[in-house]
Amino acid sequence: MDMMMALRAHTRGGPEQLVYEQAPVPVPRPGEALVAVHAASITFAELTWDQSWTTRDGQDRTPVIPSHEMSGTVTGLGAGVTSVTPGAEVYGLIGFDRDGAAAEYVAVPAAELASRPRSVPHVAAATLPLAALTAWQALVDYAALEAGERVLVHGGAGGVGVYAVQLAAVLGGQVTATGSARDDDFVRGLGAADFLSAEAGRFEDAISGVDVVIDAVGGAMTERSYTVMRPGGRLVTLGAPPAEDQARAHGVHAMFFVVAPDPGELAHLAGLVDQGRLRPVVSQVFPLSEGRRAFESGRHPRPPGKTVLTVR
Ligand SMILES: NC(=O)c1ccc[n+]([C@@H]2O[C@H](COP(=O)([O-])OP(=O)(O)OC[C@H]3O[C@@H](n4cnc5c(N)ncnc54)[C@H](OP(=O)(O)O)[C@@H]3O)[C@@H](O)[C@H]2O)c1
Repeated sequence: MDMMMALRAHTRGGPEQLVYEQAPVPVPRPGEALVAVHAASITFAELTWDQSWTTRDGQDRTPVIPSHEMSGTVTGLGAGVTSVTPGAEVYGLIGFDRDGAAAEYVAVPAAELASRPRSVPHVAAATLPLAALTAWQALVDYAALEAGERVLVHGGAGGVGVYAVQLAAVLGGQVTATGSARDDDFVRGLGAADFLSAEAGRFEDAISGVDVVIDAVGGAMTERSYTVMRPGGRLVTLGAPPAEDQARAHGVHAMFFVVAPDPGELAHLAGLVDQGRLRPVVSQVFPLSEGRRAFESGRHPRPPGKTVLTVR
């Protein structure tokens, strides 16, 4: 059996469970491609998701490999794959109920891969397939944002937020973002016309008539958002489903979804990057061997964007 280095957790828990160790190189099954990972991006909350620890039918699948977005090179093919060839430089979102990309190799359904943006390095490309796809699906597939509409992005400096702000602006929205005061200038630079920090006061006192809220923070931020929305507005929450009774009481369409692989949308996002219209935002970079420290860094203030593991 061929072996590789990987970041794994043998027991469900937080970053303290992550160990850098040898693991078997996955063997691509029919329809899958084996990808040599160059860079993989992490989502701090992923270790808290049930799906990160179980198979699709709910069975424990420890030891697990985290990190569900990556950029790399195809090195092997399972039976029946014709959509990619060895040597292709690809990027992709890896289903949450299977091993992720914090490893030298990952097996991925070939049909879920797209050509990576070529104008940026792997480290930057790896920040897109989960985070930017979540933002795109929230804005386009769920909120059906139209040009000219007023958009409020909660957590505009976060992994998803930096893409929600940029893509909402690309789609013609008038964007306001919330976050910490230290990120004000950066988030405005991504295309937010206004930035409301918690330090400066309550966002409810500064904005009204919002058409679309993309909520990457959750909790009280969700409930407080209803008062700034126009009747008929659309609220998309990313952390947990919104309370339906509250949404109904305010005449708001409230939605929650989990990002799904979509190679067509990934190809579109790669095009936006290569056209200079979407900027990958790398927060911090750690070598794979320091993956545990990368996950631990989520507990502290950090620069805007996504945290990345470099593999080769
Ligand atoms: N449904 C899906 O498919 C999907 C996909 C990806 C992520 N998610 C979820 O989306 C959420 C965000 O993920 P992420 O990767 O973007 O996380 P992240 O990188 O940790 O970003 C969260 C951002 O929210 C900001 N924030 C925290 N409290 C805030 C507040 N009260 N007001 C304004 N901003 C605040 C943080 O800023 P500070 O650090 O300055 O506090 C940070 O910039 C998580 O709940 C994650 O599970 C869901």
